[in-house]
Amino acid sequence: MCGIVGCVGAADVSRVLLSGLGKLEYRGYDSAGIAVVCDGAVDIRKSSGRLARLLAACERDGYPQGGAGIGHTRWATHGAPTDANSHPHASGDGRFAVVHNGIIENWAELRRELEAEGCRFESETDTEVIAHLVERAYEGDLLKAVMKAALRLRGSYAAAVVCADEPGRIVAVREASPLIVGIGAGENYFASDVTALVERTRSCLYLDDGEFADIRPDSVSVFDAAGRERAKEVVRVRWDVRAAEKGGYRHFMLKEIMEQPGAVEATIAPRIAAGRVCFDDEGLDDGAFCGVTRVVIAACGSSYYAGQGVRSAFERLTGVPTSVELASELRYGSTLVNASTLVIAVSQSGETADTVAALRECVCRGARTLAVVNVAGSTVARLADHAVHTWAGPEVAVATTKGYTTQLSVLYLIAVRMARALRCIGTQEEARLVRQIAALPRAIQQAIDLNPCVSELAVRYKSCPSLLFMGRGVDWAVALEGALKMKEISYIHAEAYAAGELKHGTIALVEEGQPVIALCCDERLAAKVAGNILEVKARGANVLAVACLDNQDVVALADDLLLIPPVPPMLSAAVSVVPLQLLAYHVARERGCDIDKPRNLAKSVTVE
Ligand code: M6R
Repeated sequence: MCGIVGCVGAADVSRVLLSGLGKLEYRGYDSAGIAVVCDGAVDIRKSSGRLARLLAACERDGYPQGGAGIGHTRWATHGAPTDANSHPHASGDGRFAVVHNGIIENWAELRRELEAEGCRFESETDTEVIAHLVERAYEGDLLKAVMKAALRLRGSYAAAVVCADEPGRIVAVREASPLIVGIGAGENYFASDVTALVERTRSCLYLDDGEFADIRPDSVSVFDAAGRERAKEVVRVRWDVRAAEKGGYRHFMLKEIMEQPGAVEATIAPRIAAGRVCFDDEGLDDGAFCGVTRVVIAACGSSYYAGQGVRSAFERLTGVPTSVELASELRYGSTLVNASTLVIAVSQSGETADTVAALRECVCRGARTLAVVNVAGSTVARLADHAVHTWAGPEVAVATTKGYTTQLSVLYLIAVRMARALRCIGTQEEARLVRQIAALPRAIQQAIDLNPCVSELAVRYKSCPSLLFMGRGVDWAVALEGALKMKEISYIHAEAYAAGELKHGTIALVEEGQPVIALCCDERLAAKVAGNILEVKARGANVLAVACLDNQDVVALADDLLLIPPVPPMLSAAVSVVPLQLLAYHVARERGCDIDKPRNLAKSVTVE
């Protein structure tokens, strides 16, 4: 999705903007641009394609010089990724430039109105209306003009405006789209996500919906829509700059796969003390769980699959009915949510539009809410009653890996904590579960050690038109995640299904040479999955099994094997997913795909 960045007061604003945009590349984009206020004018450079094209243009024509600037990476929504549709967009008189992340829902109506007044539009974007509205509202004060213009806007927007007449000032506004202000010394910044800021500052403040930031070199003031100044807390960002660099790896995705043992360890270790699970820092005590009669896990994409992967842990340990809902369905659906429901919103970014909306809806219905997020200060974290962070560090590759496994690990711990609160487990049982969870980083490392073997296998899959994944129980949840990883980065069609469903339709797809990836890490279900393997093999399938070392039923049947160490079935998703991540990675590499930035995808889906 689009990324925005801005800087005021730095000696070389253009380079700060371009470096910030580089950090936002991972979000997915198809054009980029910057605008800098210099010598009483706004100098705009923008181009379709990758940031490298914009950099080349700046090298050729010179970097715009000036005291305040804004930048943008665009993921096309309204109009093709052309130079003209790239941001920043200028007002008709060229004295204002705007960058925007989100969607202006009433843009067509506003555009008609502005055109009737004589405005000439240069692009097909929804954003350009903002530039014209600000120009019309301006009476010598940029903040007032942006506030007046915002009154006309409907939709979601994190937007920032510069003005030729006010060279040391940026005004930014947030409505349902993330916006963070970075505090420096004699220079200040804003961005749509902290990764673009950590190189310059670790001190940030998070704007809330309906807030405006007046950003100058020596001050940042935040106002509500009525013009009242708001006191904001400055938050210290824990992320390390190096964590968002490749560190010698060819791709962020591979680096992030390799980081999983450490990320899971960092996530679980602070929550374990003397054989007990402890979420005291998050204020998650017995009271947060007592009286809960239903758990609803709400999420999108891989976070939704993480929810599927822990559903049985919640039900087995707590005895409380647990459902996992797609946030995009939950927000408009009829899922029963009330004051005795615990809604757990799971989101790596904490900014996924559907997850935010579903959580808001559940808050309105009076549910108790808990966020599991990787980004501190994100919208999901701030909306929920309690926020539990995964400490995965920045995840840059669009395809999530350490985000997913850290979500699973912390959700296991939450299930155990809830079971204790509800008196479903005793001290000894809790200590046993805690030991099993604490052993996950080592088991994940053992699964990572399969890398050379997976890399060899991948050569055989690189030309397959389609892959089928199957499993039962937790293994089915992992099959879904494995298939998603494969399709999103290798562009090979992949489908996952519950192995028991095979005979109800999907087996019609199996013919000579069809690759089937069978997940069999739950020995209680091994004989059943073995039966499914026989069925597909009898029809010519070639089976790659991901199984636990001691699962002999399956080991004897598969054409290829990836063996992971024995892990309790309830926790196995965090380990058995690793070979599937590696397989998707190596197949995509063999096919020459853009692994970290797959086509059409964005890291953080901030629009519906
Ligand atoms: O940031 P979130 O966890 O809310 O993101 C949800 C999905 O967009 C995300 O998991 C997506 O499916 C990943 N690209 C999958 O690798």
